[in-house]
Amino acid sequence: MATPQALADRTVKSDAKCYIDSAAGKDDESADGSQSKPYQSLYHALVQHLDKPAPTYLTRVPPKEGSADGSTWEEPAKTSLKKAVGRVDAYKKKLAKDELASKKEEEERQQRLKNLEDAKKIMLQEDPSLPPAVRIKLNNKSVELGTRIKVFGRIHRLRSQKQATFITLRDGYGLLQCVLPAGDLTKTYDALVFAQETSIVLYGELKQLPPGASAPDNRELQVDYYRVLGSAPSDLDAITNKVSRDQDPWDAQMLDNRHLVLRGETASAVMKLREFVELAFIDTYREMHFTKVSPPAMVQTQVEGGSTLFKYDYYGEEAYLTQSSQLYLETVIPSLGDVYCIEKSFRAEKSLTRRHLSEYTHIEGEMDFIEFDDLLEHLEEIISRVVDKVQGNAEVAAYLKLLNPGFEKPSRPFMRMKYEDAIEWLNKQDPPILNEEGNVHSFGDDIAEAAERRMTDIINRPIFLTHFPVEIKAFYMKKDPKDLRVTESVDVLIPGVGEIVGGSMRMEDYDELIAAYKKNGIGPEPYYWYTDQRKFGTTPHGGYGLGLERFLAWMAGQHTVRTTTLYPRFMGRARP
Ligand code: 4AD
Repeated sequence: MATPQALADRTVKSDAKCYIDSAAGKDDESADGSQSKPYQSLYHALVQHLDKPAPTYLTRVPPKEGSADGSTWEEPAKTSLKKAVGRVDAYKKKLAKDELASKKEEEERQQRLKNLEDAKKIMLQEDPSLPPAVRIKLNNKSVELGTRIKVFGRIHRLRSQKQATFITLRDGYGLLQCVLPAGDLTKTYDALVFAQETSIVLYGELKQLPPGASAPDNRELQVDYYRVLGSAPSDLDAITNKVSRDQDPWDAQMLDNRHLVLRGETASAVMKLREFVELAFIDTYREMHFTKVSPPAMVQTQVEGGSTLFKYDYYGEEAYLTQSSQLYLETVIPSLGDVYCIEKSFRAEKSLTRRHLSEYTHIEGEMDFIEFDDLLEHLEEIISRVVDKVQGNAEVAAYLKLLNPGFEKPSRPFMRMKYEDAIEWLNKQDPPILNEEGNVHSFGDDIAEAAERRMTDIINRPIFLTHFPVEIKAFYMKKDPKDLRVTESVDVLIPGVGEIVGGSMRMEDYDELIAAYKKNGIGPEPYYWYTDQRKFGTTPHGGYGLGLERFLAWMAGQHTVRTTTLYPRFMGRARP
């Protein structure tokens, strides 16, 4: 322990004075140790003079109580000086330690750079004595065990251990564990900078997994050679720093990085399921002898009301992106019989909800010579068949299980409920489920999204909600001949999502259609081709539109329809 004299020697070496005022002083940049800007603590004052000649330290002594004199400045008591110097010594030790650590870090960095430079000298050569490698994709690991294969992909996961580097390779078809035994394979420059998403081709023998180990399909590749095709960043720009599986896929950063999110297991499983579901609809339509058609996206007619039309200028005329292909489908049933299309529909939705998109995939069917009940039967059949196809395909069923383990095929017949009964049902709940104005529902009210969802979630099975009032439905819907207040219309409601299908029988009578245009404020001129259908052999016909994203949100258990689409909004933009 230093003697007080030694402490004084260490601390006083110049004529300068440094002032410390524990009440009014500051231990920050606003103070400079002068009498007008004193420091707050002796420790801080000492630290400020670490590498400078030490001044005389003076601390403020407040005036004695009752004394008229002002405060005085005195040298600090030996004990406080000793205490402060002790702290300064500790601080110096820490400084020295930090310096040592950063020196070590720098040495290590230099060593790493040298290792990297040295690693560049290690050149891998494919051993010409090995059998030529057979190229496989990862949905086909059924090649004979022991075959030498090559496989292209990206590093999905990476684990470097002393005895080997383990890569889980992803090629868009599946995953494969690849083992690089420690040696030249793990010492190359490429191996030292391996990162998630590095693209690579790996060669080696396909082996059965050793007992007790676990990896996709119980296979692993014993790598004997590889080539990196494209590197990926491993630092702050690494994919794991940009997107993470724990992040809400609907947060802005995840949306802007949707192109990277799609590389993840969940998003890619949804996309695989989506492709299969779309094909399952196509298969089912073919089984049912529907013809696929491709109506235009650029149109001059509205279908579902003017408020959600995306308008644009068509060589000087107002035109729209289609809301629905229904009117066009109606024009081709006379020549093609039952028809369907899978096209984009566009809606300028006013609010951001979890089931509305501006651009969505609309599966629409139109059937000729049917009654309303045929429409309902058909909807039940097609939904059930598509679900059967998904569940009956082992690969896709596995994706479905990963995404939504609790998914169950709805039991048939689907529940049917008239709009009027639904109104009664809503009002009978305790407490009643109210309309958007906060009142009990009455006939003619729209059943708003929230009420509809509550009803569907409580009933907890698909519902065919039918016979909506004329006033709240589109102009083309046929009135129920038994109750002219309502239309022969149906919404299919699904727990967790709400409406996934909207359909109806179509108005057949020419004059009635002309009157409907008028009532809905629609100028009939651009619709002449649609109206003509009522002149040239009208028929009882009907159809529906099913939102593919909503159907998928249901099956894949997604909280929002957005995560069922590739790109749910312009990237880097605030509005979807
Ligand atoms: O009920 P909608 O508006 O019906 C029609 O468009 C009819 N013309 C279809 C027809 O009969 N051919 O829409 C049908 C379905 C809805 O049930 C919903 O699944 C989906 O299209 N849909 C949307 N999906 C995502 N985002 C939106 N903004 C949607 N608007 C409708």
